[in-house]
Amino acid sequence: MTSAHQSKPDRHDRLRILSEDVAITMLACASTDEVLWHLARNVVAKMGFDDVVIYMLDTERQSLTQRAAFGNKNPSEYEILDPIVIPLGQGIVGRVALTGESELITDTSTHPEYIVDDEVRLSELAVPMSVGGEVIGVIDSEHPDRGFYTEQDQQILSAIASIGATKISQTLAVEALRVERSQLSDGIEERTADLVAANRQLAQANKLKDEFLASMSHELRTPLNTVLGMSEALTEGVFGLLTPEQAESVGLIHESGTHLLSLINDILDLHKIERGRVKLDLHLCSIHETCASAVRMIRKKAEDKGLKFDFRDDSAAAIAVLDSRRVKQALINLLNNAVKFTPEGGSIGLCISLTRENNNELINFEVWDSGIGIPKTEIKNLFVPFQQIDSGLSRAHEGTGLGLVITKRLVELHDRTIRLESDEGQGTRVTLKFPLINHA
Ligand SMILES: Nc1ncnc2c1ncn2[C@@H]1O[C@H](COP(=O)(O)OP(=O)(O)O)[C@@H](O)[C@H]1O
Ligand SMILES: [Mg+2]
Repeated sequence: MTSAHQSKPDRHDRLRILSEDVAITMLACASTDEVLWHLARNVVAKMGFDDVVIYMLDTERQSLTQRAAFGNKNPSEYEILDPIVIPLGQGIVGRVALTGESELITDTSTHPEYIVDDEVRLSELAVPMSVGGEVIGVIDSEHPDRGFYTEQDQQILSAIASIGATKISQTLAVEALRVERSQLSDGIEERTADLVAANRQLAQANKLKDEFLASMSHELRTPLNTVLGMSEALTEGVFGLLTPEQAESVGLIHESGTHLLSLINDILDLHKIERGRVKLDLHLCSIHETCASAVRMIRKKAEDKGLKFDFRDDSAAAIAVLDSRRVKQALINLLNNAVKFTPEGGSIGLCISLTRENNNELINFEVWDSGIGIPKTEIKNLFVPFQQIDSGLSRAHEGTGLGLVITKRLVELHDRTIRLESDEGQGTRVTLKFPLINHA
C-alpha cells in the first residue's frame, strides 16, 4: 500500500513549502474559500500526505462542516465528495475542535470514537485552527497505514493551521463587513424607493387637495351666499313680515351660514399660507392706523357684550414695514378671541408700545383680556389646526379653531413670532413684536 502513496519531502523542503506556499501565496488569497482550498490542495498536499479535509466550526449549529479537501474526498477541482457534518465534541475531529489540542492517532482501530468518512484509514492527524485561543476549524489528515504520521508532521501541520487560521480570521471579517455593507446599501436603496413613492403620493394628494379646495371655494361659497342673501332679505321683511318663530329660525339659518362661510374662508386661507401662496404686501405703514382700523371693527362687538374695551397707543406715531392688511387680520383674530372668551362685565384691550431688545427698536402689539384664560397645559395645542379647548365654557363659543393657527402663520410670514401667556381664570395676553423703522 505504502508504495502507491507519495513520499514525504524532507525537513528542508517542508520548510520551503511552509514559507513559500503558506506564508506568501496564502497571504495573497482574497476569500475564506480561496484560503481553505489553497491550504488543502497546495500546502498540505505537498507535505507528502495522501489526504486532507479541512473543517470549519459553525458556532451557531455547534458542528463542523467540510469546506475543502485533497485526496479521495476531492474528486475534481473544488468539489468535496459526500460532505459530512460532525457535531462538536464527536469523533477525533470533534474532540480537537472542542479541546483545541491536536491529536496524532497511530492506530484508529483502537479508537472507538474514530468516525469513518469515505473509508477506514489506520492513521489520523488532526490539528486545530485557532485564533486567540478560539478554535475556528480543524485540519484533518488520514492515512491507510498504521503509524504513518510523526511528531514532526504534527508540528508542521500545526504551524500551517495556525498561520491559516490567522489569515482566515481576516477574510471572515472582510466577508462579514462586505455582507453588512451590501445589506446597508440594500436598505438605503429600499428606503430611497419608499421615499420616492411616498413623495409621489404626497404630490398627488396635494394636487387633489388643491383641486378639492378650489372647487369647494366655488361650489360652496356660491350657494352659501344665496342662503345668506335670502335669509337677510327674509329678516328685513322683503317677502312680508315674519312671525317671531319664523324670524328666529331665519336668524339661525343666517348665523349658521355665516359660520360656515368663515370656516371655508379660514380653511382656504390656511391652505394658501401653507402652500406658500400668500405673498406679503410689505410697505411702510402707520402702526396707529393699522390698529385703529382693527379696533373700529371690534369695539362695538365688545361693548354689545358688555365688555370694557381699552385701546392704548404709546407708539408715538411709529412707522414699520408690514403687510398692514395681514397684521390687521391677525389683530382681529386675537381681538375676536378676547371678546369671545371674556364673560360679560370683563375687559379686553389692545396696547401698542415701543421696546428695545438687543439694540433693536421693536413695536409691541398686545391683545389682552380678563377672560376665562387657557390652562397652561393646553397652550401648546392651540396652534394646531382645529384645536379648541374642550371646556364647557369655550365650547359654548362658536369658532373654527383656525384663528390662532392662521394668526401664527401670518406673523411667521413676517419672520416674527407670537407669544401667548395665559392660565385658567387668569385672562390671556398675546404679544406680537415687529421691528420698528421710524417714529416721530
Ligand atoms: N383669549 C382667549 N381666552 C381663552 N381661550 C382662548 C383665547 N384665545 C383662544 N382661546 C382658545 O384657543 C382655541 C383656539 O382659538 P382659535 O384658533 O382662535 O379658534 P376659535 O376662535 O375658532 O375657537 C379657542 O377655541 C379657545 O379654546
Ligand atoms: Mg378665534
